[in-house]
Amino acid sequence: MNVHNLGIGNSVLNQFVSELRDIEIQKDAMRFRKNIERIGEILSYELSKTLNYTTKKVTTPLGIKEVSVPDDKIVLCSILRAGLPLHQGVLNYFDHVENAFISAYRKHQDDNDDFDIVVNYLASPSIQDKILILVDPMLATGNTLEVTFEAIKKYGTPKQIHIVSVIGSEQGVAYVDNAFPPNTQLWIAAVDEQLNSKSYIVPGLGDAGDLAFGSKL
Ligand code: URA
Repeated sequence: MNVHNLGIGNSVLNQFVSELRDIEIQKDAMRFRKNIERIGEILSYELSKTLNYTTKKVTTPLGIKEVSVPDDKIVLCSILRAGLPLHQGVLNYFDHVENAFISAYRKHQDDNDDFDIVVNYLASPSIQDKILILVDPMLATGNTLEVTFEAIKKYGTPKQIHIVSVIGSEQGVAYVDNAFPPNTQLWIAAVDEQLNSKSYIVPGLGDAGDLAFGSKL
């Protein structure tokens, strides 16, 4: 897997990530969602440089211009519900893609912190020979992405997989590296050192779904 950690260099991307992490700025859920969306746009722009392009002629009011445009068939798949703002950010740039949604949640066993990832909804077009972009804002353990990939495989074999994420853990990135085909590309804004006993990324930002959409029971 190729890891493109775009937070390593200096750019405005790091401003957006720092606002996501900031416990005071997090109180503004609209800003939280918007920053994730903006990060999705930046990661998409970088990803777009790796796509296939064809030349086409565009007729302007004053003449004809040859331009190079991406021509890959892309399916964008997000995990509900935390993935929605990042999905929107990617969709802002790749507005012609097909979309897939999966609902996966952590099912905890009794009193301990262990959990299984349970998939209970998946809607997808065919992904056969297309580019599959998997969106997961918090790449904590990598289990959710693996389970998502296993579930969506019944819709075909993609020619290339890209994973788009905001913050990952070193452990999660290593896990995904092992679980996905070697030519998988990971586009990510930051990688943190640790996971806590509940498999949350530390320092991370907390619960992305709750911060974007409110806490749940
Ligand atoms: N999901 C989150 O929202 N945050 C984490 O740190 C890990 C998983």
